[in-house]
Amino acid sequence: MKRGKFITFEGGEATGKSTQARRLAERLERTGIPVVVTREPGGTPVGEDVRELILKDRPTDPVTELLLFAAARAEHVTSVIRPALDEGTWVISDRFIDSTRVYQGKLYGLEREFIEQLERFTVAPDYPNLTLILDLPASAGIERAQLRGTLSRYDAERIETHEALREGFLEIAEAEPQRCVLIDAHLPVASVETAVWQAVTAHLLAEAD
Ligand SMILES: Nc1ncnc2c1ncn2[C@@H]1O[C@H](COP(=O)(O)OP(=O)(O)OP(=O)(O)O)[C@@H](O)[C@H]1O
Ligand SMILES: [Mg+2]
Repeated sequence: MKRGKFITFEGGEATGKSTQARRLAERLERTGIPVVVTREPGGTPVGEDVRELILKDRPTDPVTELLLFAAARAEHVTSVIRPALDEGTWVISDRFIDSTRVYQGKLYGLEREFIEQLERFTVAPDYPNLTLILDLPASAGIERAQLRGTLSRYDAERIETHEALREGFLEIAEAEPQRCVLIDAHLPVASVETAVWQAVTAHLLAEAD
């Protein structure tokens, strides 16, 4: 049996990750590919508890936060992602390792080497086959979040913070062009969906036959 492919959506706040994750799943299903959509933090009962904990009572120490995310990720990979891929199901995760690299690494300045070591512990060898990085100017992301009426604790941060996050994701896209595709998230939803589909077709479907 052919292993499933692992796709992640990354990018700043309100860039359209959840919207596009859902739409991509629907498209894949229409072509007959079994797919599960999951998210981080979350994806498992333990992970959802960790998500609630972090969003409710933000840890004061970034290391606490990093380790909680890592713990949730270990559970996510072993109980959801890896078993699905093993049985030929494709997995789409709304945020994954790159969010940790950018938020805990770039924004909070935690040691990159340690973060990568945690990735090896929790994820290897199941790194994403394809990562779609949704790129949007910070001001547009904040506007969307306000329109939506939900302002997460990250949404509420200053515009400079959002720009730093955007920069972090752009750096990853540049450093790992084999795995990452940068998507202009400023376009209408349907156009972003088309760009996502083109990336998936070019990177994954051509070789899946
Ligand atoms: N291409 C788009 N153009 C305009 N609005 C959009 C676009 N994509 C998504 N939206 C709207 O922007 C808001 C944020 O979208 P969505 O929840 O998919 O983003 P997200 O990246 O998952 O956000 P979060 O980081 O908060 O999880 C929603 O109200 C959604 O309808
Ligand atoms: Mg979302």
